[in-house]
Amino acid sequence: MQSSNLFDVLFLGDVVGRPGRLHVREYLQSLSAAGDKPDLIIVNAENAAHGFGLTRKIVNEFVECGVHVLSGGNHTFDKKEIFEFIDDSPFILRPANYPEDTPGRGTFVFEDGDFRFGIINLMGRVFMEPLRSPFLIADELIASMNADGVKAVMVDFHAEATAEKVALGLYLDGRATAVLGTHTHVQTADERILPGGLAYITDAGLCGPSNGVIGMDKEQVFRRLVQQLPCRLEIASGPTVLSGVRFKVDRDSGKAVSIERILQYSEL
Ligand SMILES: [Fe+2]
Ligand SMILES: [Fe+2]
Repeated sequence: MQSSNLFDVLFLGDVVGRPGRLHVREYLQSLSAAGDKPDLIIVNAENAAHGFGLTRKIVNEFVECGVHVLSGGNHTFDKKEIFEFIDDSPFILRPANYPEDTPGRGTFVFEDGDFRFGIINLMGRVFMEPLRSPFLIADELIASMNADGVKAVMVDFHAEATAEKVALGLYLDGRATAVLGTHTHVQTADERILPGGLAYITDAGLCGPSNGVIGMDKEQVFRRLVQQLPCRLEIASGPTVLSGVRFKVDRDSGKAVSIERILQYSEL
C-alpha cells in the first residue's frame, strides 16, 4: 500500500569488493531496523566482485539484503560468468549505449502499485570508450519510457569527466527525475535539485575501502604510478566508506523534491 505521495529512492555509488559489500549490507540492515527502508534501492555494482565485475553469488547477496537494481559500467563484464545470467536478470543493468547486440539491458522499470519508475544506465564518452551518444540515447529511452506510462526516470551516468556529467544533468532537467554520476569513486558535494525538478550529483562516490586508491591497495598503485611497473591491483584493507544519495520523488509530477547526500565512514 502506498504510504506517502513521495517515492523514496536510495542510490549507492560503486561498491568495491567484499569490504564494500559488507558495509552496504550493514547499512541496509540498520535502515530496516530503524523502520526507514526506502521504496527503491539501487547500487552501482560494477566493482563488487573483488573490484572487477559481478558473480551470481554476489548478485544473490545484494538481493537478499534488499537491493532492487544493480547498475553497471565499464567493469560490468569483467567476470566471464556474468554472460551466464545477465540476459535472464532484468534488474542487472549495463550501459544502454553499448552496441545494440551487447548482452543484457540498459534499462529497468520498477513498479510500485500504479507508479512506474524507470532506471537508465549510461556511460560517458569523454576519456572513455567511443560508445553511442549518451545524450541521444537518453532522449530515445526517456521518450519510449514515457510512452509506456513511466513518469519518473533516473539515470546512473557512469562517466569520468565532470563537465560531461553536468551537461547531461542540465540537458535532461525537466524530462528526467535524477542524473546521478558514478565511476570516479570520489563523492562530490554538489547535490541539488535543478530548476526543472531533477535531482543531481556529479558522483555518488564509493562503497568500499576508504584508505586505498579509489578502493584498491595503495602499494600496488604506487608500483604502477611511481615505479611505472605493471601490477595486479587488489582490494585495500582497513576501514570503509559508504557513499550515495537518497532522493524523494513526487509520484504525481514525477519530479524530484529533495536530495540528501550520504557519506558514512566506518571502522569495520
Ligand atoms: Fe567503479
Ligand atoms: Fe567504472
